[in-house]
Amino acid sequence: MDISHASVLPEEVLHYLAVDDTEHLLLDATVGEGGHSYAFLERFPNLRVIGLDADSRILGRARERLARFGDRVELLHTWFDAHFERELSAERDRERPTRILFDLGVSSFHFKASGGGFSFREDEPLDMRLNHDESEDAADLVNSLPQDELAALIYRYGEERYSRRIAGAIVRRRSESPLRSSSELADLVYHAVPAPYRRGRIHPATRTFQALRIAVNQELERIERALAGAIDLLVPGGVIGVIAFHSLEDRIVKRMFREKSRACTCPPEMPICKCGGVPVLELITRKPVFASETEREQNPASRTARLRVARKC
Ligand SMILES: C[S@@+](CC[C@H](N)C(=O)[O-])C[C@H]1O[C@@H](n2cnc3c(N)ncnc32)[C@H](O)[C@@H]1O
Repeated sequence: MDISHASVLPEEVLHYLAVDDTEHLLLDATVGEGGHSYAFLERFPNLRVIGLDADSRILGRARERLARFGDRVELLHTWFDAHFERELSAERDRERPTRILFDLGVSSFHFKASGGGFSFREDEPLDMRLNHDESEDAADLVNSLPQDELAALIYRYGEERYSRRIAGAIVRRRSESPLRSSSELADLVYHAVPAPYRRGRIHPATRTFQALRIAVNQELERIERALAGAIDLLVPGGVIGVIAFHSLEDRIVKRMFREKSRACTCPPEMPICKCGGVPVLELITRKPVFASETEREQNPASRTARLRVARKC
């Protein structure tokens, strides 16, 4: 099987989430093609893995790749937030994980081989759904949202400064015929932005595509819900690691880790502590860990990756 995705920060993840010789359970909340899980299963013989992914096609690839580890691996097709709340919750008497890993966003598989319209370099249906059980895709959003909502979405999730111009161009275009393919959208964005912007470091449609993908899959809302659930689920002394790829994701992780590592949660104007709170997490990485120069050269996808790790108290 050809693997599309090179796992980011592989050594750093193994180092921070390392386990001893006793039995451990890793919850790989974003198993993808199974790269990180494979490395853990190979390095730590007493470790078992539960892997989740919203995309059933990529999960099939992980199943094939991880088959050699037999019943040390269990793979579940689900959004990570839904699962924390249901089957994986402690009330269900499931064994609780001692390690949890989130490697957020999408895989290189989605850009290169899924045919799902994630890449502005391909001519594919404008879909971008990770989970095909969901009904609304990227074409539905661009062809139906009011112009100001479309502009707000592109600005909020893409941090795109030309969001209004792009939304205007989309609305003019769809009044003639609906947008259907990724290359149609990429071409439209290219012509909607000022000429100097087209010569920038990234393709001018990069941010618009990111925004639509985040909106279609409700990525940020799910991270927020899933992190809280994951911290609850982790055994005391267990370790959670999260790899984010852009500041929108990382902000959520940073805030959640900071809040959970504070003892007192009283408002700052309160002269003395009334909540009697105790910290839930101890931060292992005070600053995010970035990929080495060598990894950045070998795997460009790692350039924006940042890992944060914490231990449950
Ligand atoms: C960056 S890839 C993971 C790569 C993997 N760690 C590896 O080394 O091969 C992220 C994966 O998470 C999945 N994903 C993203 N958001 C998800 C969510 N909310 N619930 C479940 N899976 C999600 C994507 O489908 C994708 O396969």
